[in-house]
Amino acid sequence: MKQIRELVMLLLLVLCSKLTATSAGSMPIRKWKPEDSYCLSWRLGVETNSVRAWRIVPNQCLRYVESYMMLGQYERDIDLIIDQVMDYVNHDVVLSNDGFDAWILDVDDTCLSNLFYYQGKRFGGDPYDPKGFKEWALKGVCPAIPAVLRLYNKLIEGGFKVFLVTGRSEATLGQTTLDNLHNQGFLAYERLILRSDEYKGMSGIAYKSEIRKKLVGEGYRIWGNVGDQWSDLQGEYIGNRTFKLPNPMYFVP
Ligand SMILES: *[C@@H]1O[C@H](CO)[C@@H](O)[C@H](O)[C@H]1NC(C)=O
Repeated sequence: MKQIRELVMLLLLVLCSKLTATSAGSMPIRKWKPEDSYCLSWRLGVETNSVRAWRIVPNQCLRYVESYMMLGQYERDIDLIIDQVMDYVNHDVVLSNDGFDAWILDVDDTCLSNLFYYQGKRFGGDPYDPKGFKEWALKGVCPAIPAVLRLYNKLIEGGFKVFLVTGRSEATLGQTTLDNLHNQGFLAYERLILRSDEYKGMSGIAYKSEIRKKLVGEGYRIWGNVGDQWSDLQGEYIGNRTFKLPNPMYFVP
């Protein structure tokens, strides 16, 4: 009798967990499946900068990208890249400690995560929405990406001058971005550089190249440069090493 009761309880539990799992969202996240293989190829193309200027995630990859972002692989990929950065910093960089050893970090989806925002945009299935993004950014609640914060602290402790360079508009998002970085533990960087009016409308590559050119003109040696977009890492004065973080949700030219 007791065994039967236990069995019934167990069945009920299993049933309940199934029900809650499928009712949590309209589309439950599911594990990797063999039919994702096109999407694996697509993502490889994106990350190697072979697939460019894409506007939205292909329809058949919406679920794949959601799973990639939410089930841990995204974080694992970031951790691996950051480990590579750490190796480079530990073994290859020879600091002069004259105050001109510099490092460049991008902000959006490098220092700060917009994953919660993009969750509401079908993880890149919806086209870029400048108004929506601005509203989100103005909340100032983007969480730090833990591995990048770890790197950041190491760079600061190591004596690098860290420059945070972002395409965010200085006029509208300057203060919020400053506050958000602060509340997430990004303290003691050398400069936060936002897009001022003179760079309005410029491509990411051109704008960020101009900024880096100025820094090099001031005498800084850019040892490394980390971003989630190829446009963070291309153009002029890109730095001695560049590191691309994964981002299959959007493309910035
Ligand atoms: C770093 O890059 C600069 C500019 O390209 C170059 O002059 C310098 O030799 C590089 N340093 C190392 C250690 O590779």
